[in-house]
Amino acid sequence: MNKISPDLNLDKLEANTVVNTFKKFEQEHVFKFWEELSKDERQNLLEQALEIDLNQLKKLTDEHLVSTDTKSIDFSEITPADYIKLKSKVSNPAEWAEAKSLGEEAIRNGKVAAFTPAGGQGSRLGFNAPKGMYPVTPVLKNSLFQLFAEKIKAVSKKYDANIPWYIMTSLDNHDDTVEFFMTNDFFGFNEKDVQFFSQYTMPAVDFNGKILMSNKHNIARTPDGHGGSFKALVKSGSVDDMAKRGIDIVSFFQIDNSLVRCIDPYFIGFHIKQQSQLSSKACIKTDPKEKVGLLISKNGNISTIEYSDFPDEMAAKRDADGGLLFSTGSIGIHLFDRQFISKLGEDNEDFQLPFHKAVKKISTIDAEGNPIALDAPNGIKFEMFGFDALDYTSNAMILETLRENEFSPLKNATGKDSPETVLNLQLQLFSSWVKAAGGKIELDENGLPSFSFEIRPSYANNVDEFIAKYDGESIADGVVLQ
Ligand code: UTP
Repeated sequence: MNKISPDLNLDKLEANTVVNTFKKFEQEHVFKFWEELSKDERQNLLEQALEIDLNQLKKLTDEHLVSTDTKSIDFSEITPADYIKLKSKVSNPAEWAEAKSLGEEAIRNGKVAAFTPAGGQGSRLGFNAPKGMYPVTPVLKNSLFQLFAEKIKAVSKKYDANIPWYIMTSLDNHDDTVEFFMTNDFFGFNEKDVQFFSQYTMPAVDFNGKILMSNKHNIARTPDGHGGSFKALVKSGSVDDMAKRGIDIVSFFQIDNSLVRCIDPYFIGFHIKQQSQLSSKACIKTDPKEKVGLLISKNGNISTIEYSDFPDEMAAKRDADGGLLFSTGSIGIHLFDRQFISKLGEDNEDFQLPFHKAVKKISTIDAEGNPIALDAPNGIKFEMFGFDALDYTSNAMILETLRENEFSPLKNATGKDSPETVLNLQLQLFSSWVKAAGGKIELDENGLPSFSFEIRPSYANNVDEFIAKYDGESIADGVVLQ
């Protein structure tokens, strides 16, 4: 092992202590090229090393690499989760009306903020910029960031309320994200009402648990998952900022779902009525093989289970009406109670989300420090999942929604959940609004027009608003209602 050079303007003692600690954990290769590094590179590497909790990393590698990865799940504890059914399916719509007015009151009183975890790597999409910059709207090709900004602003305007937006970025995309907002005048937000903060990272390891280096002076670090939102929200001061503003409810939506209702009064109202700490929207599964995480009940508490962990015979079970017994699919739309976020984000052993492993291609170097060309996964990244927070709630709620109204994730470059499906689902939804308002539009058997048009959130954010506003404007190729 190289000795730390005496000419270094670092606290020599500290540098030596760090190296010795890494040695103790058999990770001293991190400093292998120390002698070749410049002063700044050494400083940088030391700072990265100091951020790693080696005890935690050892625990994770022991758990995920040494032990076999079979989870023991007691399926006898698992039953279908209760959920609030769609307005159109219930015999008592008054309950929905009450929820709406409760939600509207909370929005009007400035109790609600928007939050987007936007630190993902978007590796499946392969877009060379933050995913939020991806152009998605049918005619104007506005980005996901702009689309969500317009949706939030439309609700702010409707209720004469201030709705701040907190955006979690990552080490890799933070600067590009902030710059995008700056060059676009924050899409109409006051600068102080859009707050950006970076999520934490975890070191990536090889299949023997050794920390991978992305080059001679940088540790390969990957974002700690959307479950890292809680820690980042707390440690960045965002939760304190929310408390100062009097915000109690945080509307959580992912960066890639163009159809999401960013701020939904009904959802917020049910959340308040049920005094929920964490509420989730669910789409009802009709195909037992559909690859979507399930919201279930475990010993009477709402929880989640990944589709890959759920046995086929259970997934195929039917209820008395012929629907799937386990039907509530999780779509990454949640409401969080602010105080619950604080609990999960503070250093509290009883409220520590578990890490999951993902086998990935991780850019790294060989023994001589040269970049390695990768044709297969070579390592493991560790991430936390936001929906695991359900296991820490004492009171959670599920609300049904329709996929075609609210779920269109952009994950892949082609095929399922791709730019093409995102475009078509927007066109189908807009066309259904035009039809519902009595407008003229010709659609094919998939509910698609043969041309592109767009309804901006400033015109209508949902079908009811559209019906109230639509005045028979002609709908043709390139038309933008705004
Ligand atoms: P995904 O699970 O789709 O992951 O994220 P991803 O990293 O964006 O994409 P792939 O898997 O590499 O293709 C779902 C949501 O969680 C956020 C994403 O930005 C998206 O809003 N996320 C994910 C984070 O904010 N941080 C993470 O570490 C992971």
